[in-house]
Amino acid sequence: MSERLYIFDTTLRDGEQVPGCQLNTIEKIQVAKQLESLGVDVIEAGFPISSPGDFNSVIEISKAVTWPTICALTRAVEKDIDCAAEALRFAKRKRIHTGIGTSDSHIKYKFNSNREEIIERAVAAVKYARRFVDDVEFYAEDAGRTDNEYLARVVQAVVNAGATVVNIPDTTGYCLPHEYGEKIKYLVEHVDGIGERAILSTHCHNDLGMATACTLAGVLNGARQVEVTINGIGERAGNTSEEEIAMILKCHNLDIQTNINTRKIAATSRMVSSLMNMPVQANKAIVGRNAFAHSSGIHQDGVLKNTETYEIINPKDVGIDDNSIILTARSGHAALKHRLEVLGIEVSEEKLNDIYSAFLALADKKKEVTDDDILVLAGAERAASHQIKLDYLQVTSGLGVRPIAAISLDIAGEKFQAAAEGNGPVDAAIRALKQIIRREMTLKEFTIQAINKGSNDVGKVHMQVEHEGSVYYGFGANTDIVAASVEAYLDAINKFKA
Ligand code: KIV
Ligand code: ZN
Repeated sequence: MSERLYIFDTTLRDGEQVPGCQLNTIEKIQVAKQLESLGVDVIEAGFPISSPGDFNSVIEISKAVTWPTICALTRAVEKDIDCAAEALRFAKRKRIHTGIGTSDSHIKYKFNSNREEIIERAVAAVKYARRFVDDVEFYAEDAGRTDNEYLARVVQAVVNAGATVVNIPDTTGYCLPHEYGEKIKYLVEHVDGIGERAILSTHCHNDLGMATACTLAGVLNGARQVEVTINGIGERAGNTSEEEIAMILKCHNLDIQTNINTRKIAATSRMVSSLMNMPVQANKAIVGRNAFAHSSGIHQDGVLKNTETYEIINPKDVGIDDNSIILTARSGHAALKHRLEVLGIEVSEEKLNDIYSAFLALADKKKEVTDDDILVLAGAERAASHQIKLDYLQVTSGLGVRPIAAISLDIAGEKFQAAAEGNGPVDAAIRALKQIIRREMTLKEFTIQAINKGSNDVGKVHMQVEHEGSVYYGFGANTDIVAASVEAYLDAINKFKA
């Protein structure tokens, strides 16, 4: 019988730590439910002591999902563990994930401590967490740069103290795949109880582009849990990508199986990308929009004769359905509702009506409305709750004329107008906006992206605006890129702390 590998999804914790990717609780519940239907075993729902928002999200996710274990992160500190236990009180299956740095540099510079004291703190944290839950995972932060002999002593001590899972993070993404595999093998061979009392988990970061390779090496050497994120999102270069591991195990006969329903991968990827305003690179393995697009003549010819010639994965296996219904201005509510469901979005009838009106307006401007467009529309209602909204925008620009913009903003129900010139249409519009909102703010980053192809496409704008020492992220989407830019700027302003 093949071995079972547990999928620990940390999209909502390590993934969500990315600046600009923060979700509100409702969005986190939406992602958590999608992860449940994808078949993950564990959802790391947050770091409850870090903020009231994280604390609340762990509570609400615990209530919303049934099958996956809900996990909460802590430091090896009693008040963190108390807080995690409290946040997990509604979870049907619960796990506390506690830990401490074990590499010499963490021990010396982060903790000003020594190896023996770190083991004592690790053991105390695990024992304390076991007072609240039966399932305790311990992480040895920076295990990738911790020497194996000492690491084995730490792992043995926490397993003896009652840890059920021991996480071996390559926190800095430094390990070579064979080194990481050997580390796992060393621990399997030198720690009593691995496999019986506790399992080992991988947790790899992608700083050198080796996260998936290291994770696989860990699995082939005995790890039985992998910590992964959808689209590989995460701090810096990200975490191991969940879809890559799931599909490697599906494509290769390694006698290792997961509970992942791979047909839900594409929808989950799109949902996470859209809610987190984090575009997926076009050539990203499995979920990039070019992942199954054969453009060279030789490849197209081969694929037309037989897909096996150049395709190792059937796109349908990851949920890409070539026969999906194309939505146009003539599509009805039912078709839109079905498409939203396929994309993993559940909506009330009232919300469906709002999205449908926006859909019809867009379908009038575009021939075909794509899945990405629909995700943007479904997310657009986020802007509806803004205090400051764009009421009206008119821009004149072109070659040989000085761009000029006239703008009207609705601020808590009251209308304010202004006009300004600029060196381009976006500059003119933002200058006009700044005449109404006279706060100190600087545009730090500005990217415009078309969702698909074609001049009639929806443009997505991501912005970072600095205000009083903090950076705020804004997102806008519109077929008019100047309007999308103003929407993104307003999205950021609406997040300013009063
Ligand atoms: O990368 C890391 O070391 C982590 C731990 C907190 C598990 O994310
Ligand atoms: Zn991490």
